[in-house]
Amino acid sequence: MEFNIALVPGDGIGPEIVGGTVKVMESVAEKFGHKFNFSTYLAGGCAIDAYGEPLPKVTVDGCLASDSVLLGAVGGPKWDHVPGNMRPEKALLGLRKVLGLYTNLRPAVIQPALADACVLRPDIAAKGFDLMIVRELTGGIYFGERGRNEAGDAAFDTEAYSVAEIERVARSAFEIARKRRSHVTSVDKANVLETSRLWRETVHRLGETEYPDVTLDDMYVDNAAMQIIRAPSFFDVIVTSNMFGDILSDEASQVTGSIGLLASASLGETTRGMYEPIHGSAPDIAGKDLANPIATILSAAMMLRYSFDLAAEADFIEKAVADVLAAGWRTADIKAPGAETWLSGSGMTEKILEQLGK
Ligand code: IPM
Ligand code: MG
Repeated sequence: MEFNIALVPGDGIGPEIVGGTVKVMESVAEKFGHKFNFSTYLAGGCAIDAYGEPLPKVTVDGCLASDSVLLGAVGGPKWDHVPGNMRPEKALLGLRKVLGLYTNLRPAVIQPALADACVLRPDIAAKGFDLMIVRELTGGIYFGERGRNEAGDAAFDTEAYSVAEIERVARSAFEIARKRRSHVTSVDKANVLETSRLWRETVHRLGETEYPDVTLDDMYVDNAAMQIIRAPSFFDVIVTSNMFGDILSDEASQVTGSIGLLASASLGETTRGMYEPIHGSAPDIAGKDLANPIATILSAAMMLRYSFDLAAEADFIEKAVADVLAAGWRTADIKAPGAETWLSGSGMTEKILEQLGK
């Protein structure tokens, strides 16, 4: 099979981790007889420097014309002082919106080989942890009306959700739960927010009418933040709004041991998705070959699984990563306390390529 993949490496460590991931994808393509055609586009701070805007039209057009997008990360201190509507992050939000990617899947799993990197109490970690956060990605406070008053001494951002927006992401969550342990926890703040009350009503109506076989419960977001640490094995699928999902997914990733390991998939109505690590551009370590490429490599595996329907190829990459970790190889972010050696980012990519049989 042949696929056209848009690469958006972005800023900071983005180019390093996307570069390593392309090698992994090329190795898999060769092994399984596929052809991946890569085209690279600028977005974020590098696009501000090159084009004067974070998301130039050539990037949007290239992504719209692709079969899927692999993104590294955007942003950095160099662009921290540009006006809000020109920030590098605008590129990310703009791509999600223009590609119609309203469902964001963020799996958080404890890799057995990395139990020592897990920050949970050992008796809690021993129960395991395999959670899928389904985050709404193109609505809510991220895209609501915002502004300042004339005097500039007051500002507002608006959380808004329609039934249709809630239904489509909830449907994704129920469908995914059916392929897992058939348990959805809907996270909201319905004791305070009207959008959350609509969220809860809508998710329940959908659950009762279309997914009676899936267990559905609700949790307030503050309690969910606590339970992810206290009893993570309770969760199977969490479905939640854009901002709550942003926050809980960072928490869940750190609970697994390293934010450098977690992949994500953003999906809409078509098979074209955008795949990216959930971590940021880490400007402090950019250019030092320290960044862990695993989250991006696992994001590529998700692309093969969810957009291209290449499950065996995705399994192959995921197994290679698990085997390399099981063999004890570590990058700086996941090394055991006191360890004196670890792999560079490119060294980790090499190990994974070796495991794939190159
Ligand atoms: C994420 C990031 C982004 C978000 C930022 C960079 C805009 O934190 O993908 O989780 O908040 O969605
Ligand atoms: Mg985030």
